[in-house]
Amino acid sequence: PAEQLARDVVARLRPYPDFPEPGVLFQDLCPVFADPALLNRVVSAVLARYSGAFDVVLGVEARGFVLATAIAQLSGRPLVLARKPGKLPGRLHQVRYSLEYGDAALQTQQDAFPRGARVLLVDDVLATGGTLEAAAKLVALGGGLVAGYAVVVTIAPLGGPARLSALPAFSVLTLS
Ligand code: PRP
Repeated sequence: PAEQLARDVVARLRPYPDFPEPGVLFQDLCPVFADPALLNRVVSAVLARYSGAFDVVLGVEARGFVLATAIAQLSGRPLVLARKPGKLPGRLHQVRYSLEYGDAALQTQQDAFPRGARVLLVDDVLATGGTLEAAAKLVALGGGLVAGYAVVVTIAPLGGPARLSALPAFSVLTLS
């Protein structure tokens, strides 16, 4: 059940105070990624939530790539990468945004998915929502439709769920 999965993920979460900057409580998901059975249950929960109602999986650099790859593989959907500047070749879309710790930008390749594709946004953690909001804007720039987002952990007090309230959502667990 969903509650047991959330408990098992919490047990594997490692919070690091003041990383990468003072005042930030970093939630390290490496132990979740290191557990193949647990990661498989996370992916299954995402697939159950969206039940095939997406055409493309968009993974956000860098830790979002892990979950996005697994979701794309198990769902049989193409994987698209949203990367930080300077990493992707070719004609690109770019969206700038502000992060909990600094400014950032994300890019996707202009031909990454067909117009009208339903795109599932995937990342490891939702905090302020700036990253997934930028990902949603990239989908729109590419003529796609956002099917929703999926994350492992939501840090609710940082405002992400409110900022993304217009989108279908899935999070294995929410910290308050
Ligand atoms: C972290 C995390 C999310 C984002 C969430 O990424 O992986 O992508 O922050 O924060 P937000 O909701 O406030 O935007 P980070 O920039 O640390 O990059 P990384 O995955 O490449 O380490």
